[in-house]
Amino acid sequence: MNPLRSSQWFGKKGKDGFIYRAWMKNQGFPPDEFKDKPVIGICNTWSELTPCNAHFRELAESVKRGVLQAGGFPLEFPVMSLGETLIKPTAMLYRNLASMDVEESIRANPLDGVVLLCGCDKTTPSLVMGACSVDLPALVVSGGAMLTGKFRGRDIATSDVWRLTDGLRSAQVTEEEMNEAEAGMCRSRGHCAVMGTASSMASMVEALGLSLPENAAIPAADARRKVLAQLSGRRIVEMVREDLRLSQVLTREAFENAIRVNAAIGGSSNVVVHLLAIAGRIGVPLELADFDRLSQKIPLLANLQPSGQYYMEDLYYAGGLPAVMKELLPHLHTQALTVNGRTVAENVARFSSLDPDVIAPLDRPFNPLSGIIVLKGNLCEDGAVVKPSAASPHLLQHTGKAVVFENIDDYKARIDDPALVVDANSILVLKSVGPKGYPGMPEVGNMGLPKKLLAEGITDMVRISDGRMSGTAFGTVVLHVSPESAVGGTLALVREGDTIALDIPARTLNLLVSPEELAARRAAWTPAPAEYTRGYVKMYLDHVGQAHTGADFDFLVGGSGAAVLKDSH
Ligand code: FES
Ligand code: MG
Repeated sequence: MNPLRSSQWFGKKGKDGFIYRAWMKNQGFPPDEFKDKPVIGICNTWSELTPCNAHFRELAESVKRGVLQAGGFPLEFPVMSLGETLIKPTAMLYRNLASMDVEESIRANPLDGVVLLCGCDKTTPSLVMGACSVDLPALVVSGGAMLTGKFRGRDIATSDVWRLTDGLRSAQVTEEEMNEAEAGMCRSRGHCAVMGTASSMASMVEALGLSLPENAAIPAADARRKVLAQLSGRRIVEMVREDLRLSQVLTREAFENAIRVNAAIGGSSNVVVHLLAIAGRIGVPLELADFDRLSQKIPLLANLQPSGQYYMEDLYYAGGLPAVMKELLPHLHTQALTVNGRTVAENVARFSSLDPDVIAPLDRPFNPLSGIIVLKGNLCEDGAVVKPSAASPHLLQHTGKAVVFENIDDYKARIDDPALVVDANSILVLKSVGPKGYPGMPEVGNMGLPKKLLAEGITDMVRISDGRMSGTAFGTVVLHVSPESAVGGTLALVREGDTIALDIPARTLNLLVSPEELAARRAAWTPAPAEYTRGYVKMYLDHVGQAHTGADFDFLVGGSGAAVLKDSH
């Protein structure tokens, strides 16, 4: 084994070694802890402000136990934690900030390997992005999903938030029922219990080969989640000894596997921006069009909300992600290496679907339509995405008149106005919710329908924006329109009553306005005055990229490696 990176701290003689060890000894470590033991950082996103990750101190203890068993020296450290539900204006605004925290914390400290404790949506991409830019041996332990919620004798989880709130607005659900549902939905530790973004990200890391098998679906409350954490602690020590780095696992093949698995599970559209950003950090060429091309032949195998019926708990009992990947093997790079040192094929060999209702066989898929479709047209010159499995069949090809909201405040002020000129054929257009526009590209793309149409029983309409939507949401929703309206994309030029043509099978999205008229509108367009002139958000606005590239900062793309920096004294 090469000399440990951490020996450049703890192995030093004289003043520097004294300083590096002496202060650590206030935690009660005997001298031999500092001798030739791989130092394993446990990068913890525990926070009571991130409810989905609030159980992570316990999980970290299991990881530590594993590290100690394997002869490593575990040291837990906190990084900025991003709680999807509380953070305003959107956790996505801070994904890149948290990734900087992770990157610099890993590089600056005496670490030889890292276990990334990820859970709620943005905690996974921010940790993986940061770790990629350092490229030490690293693996992910996800926190696991909540148990399925219960409400008045039926199952309930995050996707019901949208149904319940629509029901409340159309007076089909009472406040009392809402209160009861609120208490029954999040009844255990863990992240959202559907195939929303958190579960999609946990599945993404498993499909990339960045976690031990079964990481995606073991419920947070299941004791086997702790077993996985302990085994991961053991394994990271071996990875350091083998010098198995992230860049050896995160190959182009691994990314292709992740895209295909995401299609088979009906995973979140948010995986697109996060995976593009991760690829940018590790230096693997990946572009928006790859998501469409690679997922075209992949049917929906997992019957999970929001695209299907069941919950993450059910996925685990039906065999978990390895059982899905087993079915999908003909479409995967089976020889791709994973963090346990084995290939994808080896990892899934002992699994199979235990319930064809939850994990369908490849030749009898739950839905032939899946994945992410990338649209092109004059309304989205650099692309836009749609999740066909969450869309309504009758709206896949649709031409309608635009009802335009200039920003989220305009939308909130007018959507329920009885005088709003709108019908079921209208197309709702929301501007200024992209990376720079909001700022932070929030999950508002699945904007609620006008109250008066809900009352008529309308449950879906075509909606178009430069924002994202929650991975738990559904509907015929066109997202991530690029370039965004705030930088003068064609979306900025759409006016009330314009005709828009959406053709999902043909992969087109066009504003049916003459080129001359569009040119005139473009010439008259001016950007909104800057709202933020200092602080992190100013930096964000100056450096964030567009959605089709992953919305990372221009100066964060790539990595600076794991070289040890100058001594501190
Ligand atoms: Fe944390 Fe859904 S809010 S995973
Ligand atoms: Mg979310």
